[in-house]
Amino acid sequence: MGAFVIRGGKPLFGTVAVSSSKNAILPIISACLLSGEECLIKQIPGLDDVSGMCELISNLGADVKVNGRARQISVRTPHLTGHTADYEVVSRLRASFLVMGPLLARAGKAKVALPGGCPIGSRPVDLHLKGFEAMGAQIQSGHGYIEAFCPDGKLKGTTIYLDFPSVGATENLMTAAVLAEGRTVIENAASEPEIVDLAAFLNKMGAKVSGAGTDTIVIDGVDKVHGTEHTIMPDRIEAGTLMTAAALTGGDITLTNVVPEHLKPVTAKLRESGMEVIEQGSELRVRGMARPVALDIKTHPFPGFPTDMQAQMAAYLCFAEGTSVIVETIFENRFMHVNELKRMGAQIRLDGRTAIIEGIDCLQGAQVRATDLRAGAALVIAGLAARGTTEVLDIHHIDRGYEFIENKLQRLGADIQRQ
Ligand code: EPZ
Repeated sequence: MGAFVIRGGKPLFGTVAVSSSKNAILPIISACLLSGEECLIKQIPGLDDVSGMCELISNLGADVKVNGRARQISVRTPHLTGHTADYEVVSRLRASFLVMGPLLARAGKAKVALPGGCPIGSRPVDLHLKGFEAMGAQIQSGHGYIEAFCPDGKLKGTTIYLDFPSVGATENLMTAAVLAEGRTVIENAASEPEIVDLAAFLNKMGAKVSGAGTDTIVIDGVDKVHGTEHTIMPDRIEAGTLMTAAALTGGDITLTNVVPEHLKPVTAKLRESGMEVIEQGSELRVRGMARPVALDIKTHPFPGFPTDMQAQMAAYLCFAEGTSVIVETIFENRFMHVNELKRMGAQIRLDGRTAIIEGIDCLQGAQVRATDLRAGAALVIAGLAARGTTEVLDIHHIDRGYEFIENKLQRLGADIQRQ
């Protein structure tokens, strides 16, 4: 399953470009199903999840052409040839559930396997389904599948209140509402930057979406949408991961292709822990000034501290001076990295959704295992700063969301090899 071998202690120096966002491109690839015309998506990251989503929409009738050299994909879906996303695909890629919105919008029906849980939590989809029902879809579940059907062929616009600002539910309902009859208002919507990127893509297709980035999104249904071109936004979580690695190793790096606004919570916390972060237009410079000072962190939906950066910050704070407290409010089991960090000598105590971290001046290299995408990233960060050699196993988890992370880190002077 692949491993990274990391010899710790080398500060990161230099400049590297951040890849495009995994969590922006997945709903956008799914939204291509809404149009019969060509959608050209540029700056695609070379990620396993992107390949998986392209494979899924191809199975539904999309003609997908991937130009790896130009880092772009062309998607044309003149006719849907299916409306089922089967368990084999959905179990590998949870984001597959995002095809339900476009399928209901375009075909008036969808059959999608329940995604099931994953290491970080049970990951229910009740908010997605509640929204579809409010728009007039009939929902049936059984044998591990959700079937949705619009009795008179089209969804109807309505006002939907999300009990929780779910990113996926907001994205699924936005895309479903694009071709619905009338106006849909999503209240208590997620406001993550990836939602804004999806709305920009939909509007370029001729949809009428407003309010993305706030907690109230309004979509006025249209009869059809046309093709378009779109460049995916930078990956704020990859950027935050590299910032944290540079700060922890006492380095000095510049990241290009970033939107500093997207990284405010991470920048604030790195500065609070004593690091220097300089915002320079579409670049960010991070300097590790000294051993980090302990912090308190509580994850929240955007613009709060992102849950997708929690594991990375936990690794960072293992080296801090003082006691840090991290509260994970979004997912019920997102501390899988803790036991692995403890194999490296970290002093962490868990109490429900709270991790109490007694910082020590250095962790020791060890053999550790990536349990999920961001836990794997946390172990890489810890290995870069640890004394000795760290071997991170099961790095296929990391490849799902980081495009050749070892190449980027090598360019910054890290001693990391893929095996
Ligand atoms: C997206 O997942 C991201 N994935 C996640 O990134 C990210 O952690 C998450 O948003 C939160 O920011 C993609 O965009 C592909 P949610 P999503 O729906 O949409 C509960 C990564 O590491 N919930 O906002 O699945 C749910 O259980 C990944 O890149 C319901 O209860 O997240 C969770 O506790 C991991 N019912 C919370 O909401 C629902 O119907 C947040 O889930 C939906 C969600």
